[in-house]
Amino acid sequence: MFDCIMEKYIDEMEQLVLPGAGFDLIALQFTKGKKIKVFELDQVKTLDVKVETLEKTGIKHDWITYIPVDYSNESWVDKLLGAGFDKTKKTLFLWQSVSLFLEAELVKETLREMADLCADGSIIAQDFYSQAFISGEASKTVKRAARMIEKREPWKFGIDMRNEPNAAVESFLNECGLRMTGISQFGEKLGIEPFYCIVEAEKL
Ligand SMILES: C[S@@+](CC[C@H](N)C(=O)[O-])C[C@H]1O[C@@H](n2cnc3c(N)ncnc32)[C@H](O)[C@@H]1O
Repeated sequence: MFDCIMEKYIDEMEQLVLPGAGFDLIALQFTKGKKIKVFELDQVKTLDVKVETLEKTGIKHDWITYIPVDYSNESWVDKLLGAGFDKTKKTLFLWQSVSLFLEAELVKETLREMADLCADGSIIAQDFYSQAFISGEASKTVKRAARMIEKREPWKFGIDMRNEPNAAVESFLNECGLRMTGISQFGEKLGIEPFYCIVEAEKL
């Protein structure tokens, strides 16, 4: 679904930002040979391993700016601006599988900051898990998985999707200065409470 979002928007965007890009190669795949500025942010150790591996394997990546940052004690916005991000340019933000690892306040703050960086026509694409998924209530398998990674990377943030999940996600985004423009829910077709969603948003 994130690939589809990239395909949909990439040609109309001037910048692409992936806060918490990790080892994802989606930016490399979709921006090679295109006139677009690409910024990937993540923790220094992760980016070092990523760049080292790309170099070892001979995969070109010279049009991507890698920015080391720790969200919990550094300003990712300052680092992004310092690396040449231009607030007047139409930007696609891809924030995939990151919010679940952050405290709620940090998720809100990060999204407000992202909204602030959005020139007209910019899009923020992101995903959210339900609180039931994060707490392990959703299923025994999920609970086991949560326990396995608890010590290294505990899951923290989810949205209450028990009643009217679309409205719950929309209202959360509004609090962050964003308007929801699209949502895909997961779980609905299985007849269970939604446990995950992928959302597109723009600045309010
Ligand atoms: C599950 S990975 C997702 C990676 C990528 N977006 C993807 O979808 O494949 C979560 C990423 O968030 C990054 N992350 C978590 N907490 C962070 C923090 N405090 N500062 C910077 N990055 C952080 C991790 O290093 C990791 O690469």
